[in-house]
Amino acid sequence: MSTRQTALYYFSGTGNTLMLARLLAQELGDTEIVNIAGCRDSATAPEADRVGILFPVYAFGLPRIVHNFVKNSLETAENTYVFSLANYGGGGGPAALKQLEWLLKGNRGKLDAGFGLTMPSNYLPFGGAESQERQNRRFIAAAEKIKEIARIIEKRPENYFYRKSFVPGCIARRFNKYFCRSFAREAAKFYVNRNCTACGVCEQICPTQNVKLVDGRPRWGDNCEQCFACLQWCPAVAIHRRGIPETRQHYHNPTVTAQDLIKDIRK
Ligand SMILES: Cc1cc2nc3c(=O)[nH]c(=O)nc-3n(C[C@H](O)[C@H](O)[C@H](O)COP(=O)(O)O)c2cc1C
Repeated sequence: MSTRQTALYYFSGTGNTLMLARLLAQELGDTEIVNIAGCRDSATAPEADRVGILFPVYAFGLPRIVHNFVKNSLETAENTYVFSLANYGGGGGPAALKQLEWLLKGNRGKLDAGFGLTMPSNYLPFGGAESQERQNRRFIAAAEKIKEIARIIEKRPENYFYRKSFVPGCIARRFNKYFCRSFAREAAKFYVNRNCTACGVCEQICPTQNVKLVDGRPRWGDNCEQCFACLQWCPAVAIHRRGIPETRQHYHNPTVTAQDLIKDIRK
C-alpha cells in the first residue's frame, strides 16, 4: 500500500517500462514504483492520490498479467486519479488503453487519462535488437515525452486520451485475447544450449514463476507471458526459441539490470 502521492504499477519483460516508470517518477516526485509481477495479494488498494498503470503493449492490448492484476486485484477509490502509459515498438497503444478503460469500468473504476509512446521493440519473432543509435533516439524522444506527460498528469484532465484507436476496440480486444492465450503455451518452444551456466537468472526473473531449474537447466511450464525476459536477460545468451535464429540480437533496456527487476518481483 502506498502513502505517497503517486503509485506507479508497472509490468516489464525487458526493462523499457521500468525505465519509463523511473523517468515519470522523477518528474512527478513523491512516487512509489511497484512491479505488478511482485503483487501477490489478492487485493491491492493504493492510498496514493494518483495511480498509474504502465505496461508494454502485447498483441494490440494488455499483457495477460496486467489484465489479471487490474481485473482481480487493483482497487482504486472513487476520487483517485487513474492514468495509464502504454509503450510499444510500433503501435497498438490506443487500442490497449481502450481495453484497459473497459476493464476498469467493469470493476466500477475509471481511466482518467491514457498516454502512449514508442520504445525499442523486444518482440524477437519479428526481429532482433534495433541498432544502438536507433535505440538512443527512441530513449531521448521518450524522455522528452515523459516530461510532457507528467505536466498533463499534474493538471488531472478527465477523459484525456493521447490518440484515438483506428482499430475498433472490440476487434483489438479479441485479437489480444486470442494471442495472449496462445502465448501461454509458447514456452514449449524455448530451449537452452550448452552455454548455460545454471546461474538461475531465468528462474528468478520470470514474472509468472514459469521457469524452474531442474538438474541445473531451465525447464518451462505452461504459464508463459511471452515477455522473453528469460531469453533476453540470459547473461550467457544460452536461451533461444525454436523458429528464431540463435544469431538474432537479443535486447534488454540498457538503463535497467536484471537485478532491478528481480528484486521487485521477489520482494
Ligand atoms: C509478446 C509481445 C507482444 C508484443 N506486441 C506488440 C504489439 O502488438 N505492438 C507493438 O508495437 N509492440 C509489441 N511488442 C513490443 C513491446 O510492446 C515493446 O518492445 C515494449 O517496449 C517492451 O517493454 P518491456 O521492455 O517493458 O517489456 C510486443 C512484445 C512482446 C514480448
